[in-house]
Amino acid sequence: MQPVISVTNVSKTYAGGFTALRDINLEIRKGEIFALLGPNGAGKTTLISIVCGIVNPSTGIVTADGFDIARDYRRARSLIGLVPQELATDAFESVWATVNFSRGLFGKAPDPGYIERLLRQLSLWDKRHSKIMALSGGMKRRVMIAKALSHEPRILFLDEPTAGVDVELRRDMWEMVRELRRDGVTIILTTHYIEEAEEMADRIGVINRGELILVDDKASLMDKLGRKQLRLQLQTPIERLPDALASFQLELSDDGQQLTYSFDAQHDNTGIADLLRSLDAQGLDFRDLQSKQSSLEEIFVDLVRRKA
Ligand SMILES: Nc1ncnc2c1ncn2[C@@H]1O[C@H](COP(=O)(O)OP(=O)(O)OP(=O)(O)O)[C@@H](O)[C@H]1O
Ligand SMILES: [Mg+2]
Repeated sequence: MQPVISVTNVSKTYAGGFTALRDINLEIRKGEIFALLGPNGAGKTTLISIVCGIVNPSTGIVTADGFDIARDYRRARSLIGLVPQELATDAFESVWATVNFSRGLFGKAPDPGYIERLLRQLSLWDKRHSKIMALSGGMKRRVMIAKALSHEPRILFLDEPTAGVDVELRRDMWEMVRELRRDGVTIILTTHYIEEAEEMADRIGVINRGELILVDDKASLMDKLGRKQLRLQLQTPIERLPDALASFQLELSDDGQQLTYSFDAQHDNTGIADLLRSLDAQGLDFRDLQSKQSSLEEIFVDLVRRKA
């Protein structure tokens, strides 16, 4: 299947000489939710801005549904909705006017019914006559979302959509994103809330210092996440692992005081019960134990650190 967004060999060096992106290659599948993760300054917003035609790439080609974003700018852009990271909108306009005006910018005929549904869905209907400046931060962000959706785009970029948004609204937004996906909209989002990516995304991309260092299905990342460790502090240090324990994935610390058992948390039989029985049979007592699961967050931090 043809990707809905295709990024080929894209690099970006800003006017001051700073290289924000290096040779990015990425294909976004139609109808997926793709989460782009990375530390501050990694290049996420730069990449999104390039795809949306706000920043020019130094090298490379980007297409949206087959349209080159440089040569076929208007057609490519009309397919895309963008909720930018920075809130920028006309403070003195009303919500209703702003969102309807946005739709008009894309040459779409007015459709008050559609805009009403949109504002109701975003819990902004009661505020439709309010000036933007009279809204709270979270409401302003919702206005940005309404603007981004005003022209019924097939591809939606959400750059930090839930930064500064309360827990309940974040849940609502997740639900809305899922609904959009059910309608066939492709969604690309950036977030610093790793659990958001964990909850929402079909695929995850990690960008660090301008390089795309990983693109993977969430499910296969969850496999890595499924690894767990059990640590046992022994009552009395041992010199070596008894042969009877050879069948377990065990590691003995250098000082002989700690055993670390690695297992697959998603597996029904983790082997913990067997291990504890075997330890008992060997006369090995322990005085403490902890179990630890590597979260997506740890995998992420680890990845970024290792590449640094
Ligand atoms: N207009 C610009 N001119 C020069 N450098 C820029 C410009 N915009 C961004 N940069 C630099 O490019 C790098 C990437 O910035 P970008 O905004 O893409 O990061 P980001 O991954 O979105 O970070 P954050 O998580 O903080 O939003 C940063 O070092 C930033 O300082
Ligand atoms: Mg950013």
